[in-house]
Amino acid sequence: MYRILRAEKLAEKIFLMEVEAPRVAKACQPGEFIIAKMDEKGERIPLTICDYNRETGTVTIVFQIVGASTQRMAERKAGEAFQDFVGPLGQPSEFVKEAFEEVKGRRYLFVAGGVGTAPVYPQVKWMREHGMDVDVIVGAKTKDLLILEEEMKAVAENLYITTDDGSYGRKGMVTEVIRDLIENQGQHYDVCVAIGPMIMMKFVSLLTKELGLPTIVSMNPVMVDGTGMCGACRLSVGGEVKFACVDGPEFDGHLVDFDEAMKRQQIYKTEEGRAMLRLVEGETHHGGCGQCD
Ligand code: NAD
Ligand code: FES
Repeated sequence: MYRILRAEKLAEKIFLMEVEAPRVAKACQPGEFIIAKMDEKGERIPLTICDYNRETGTVTIVFQIVGASTQRMAERKAGEAFQDFVGPLGQPSEFVKEAFEEVKGRRYLFVAGGVGTAPVYPQVKWMREHGMDVDVIVGAKTKDLLILEEEMKAVAENLYITTDDGSYGRKGMVTEVIRDLIENQGQHYDVCVAIGPMIMMKFVSLLTKELGLPTIVSMNPVMVDGTGMCGACRLSVGGEVKFACVDGPEFDGHLVDFDEAMKRQQIYKTEEGRAMLRLVEGETHHGGCGQCD
């Protein structure tokens, strides 16, 4: 069992949990994810790691209530436990695997949207721990939905906050801040890492393509079982078939077919849609999620 040491509501429907999972904490890297399962009958929930502490052996996750399983998860309190907490899974962020001298020579811009702020945090923290200064843009619908502001402030060189309704920070979407920093304020970046809702990652990628700025996105939202078994996270990346949970979750945003991914995500929600995907995708739609039969 994996004990919950801290359970906190960060905003409406958004929760943080710090979980005792020493083996995961010892091995995990920014960009990777875990699969949490509450009990024998619980659904497998893939969640990108928000933070980890190798000394205390704890891993922090942040999740949004999107259905019955995450609702039940949100009701868990400190002192209770998860039956399974498996990880680290997926591939770490590219900069973790690259030669540090190369990474150090680049200027990074991180763009976080809503709940996507949680997976951006360990990446920015890694940069700070390695002596790199990075700029971070965080976008939220309203002030009340902004999460991890203080944590992000502590690790970012410059933090730009934007809300859709102007209730805090600048008014507008993250894309407006990117354009402003590059076109009006003369900032230069070598890599953009954008993590948030699919629609945000699509529009950030369209903009950065126009601006000639290489961009990495995290396709965590399309995952269902997170084990490479169900086929739900099938994507087209540069014309090739990829699976977010095995090959990713991070990909080149300029190569991801977001329209197909978003359409597929909608189709996957219905039983008839899943049956249709199974028919069309044959072998590559594995059906192991337990939702297809
Ligand atoms: P949200 O809808 O509040 O959007 C957050 C910000 O994204 C907005 O404030 C805005 O600045 C930007 N944005 C949204 N639409 C945009 C557009 N069309 N153009 C430019 N910018 C745009 O975000 P939310 O409700 O917190 O998001 C929840 C979604 O995030 C869920 O679908 C979840 O799957 C996804 N998510 C993704 C990851 C990941 O790894 N990619 C991690 C956690 C959550
Ligand atoms: Fe990747 Fe199921 S989530 S195959």
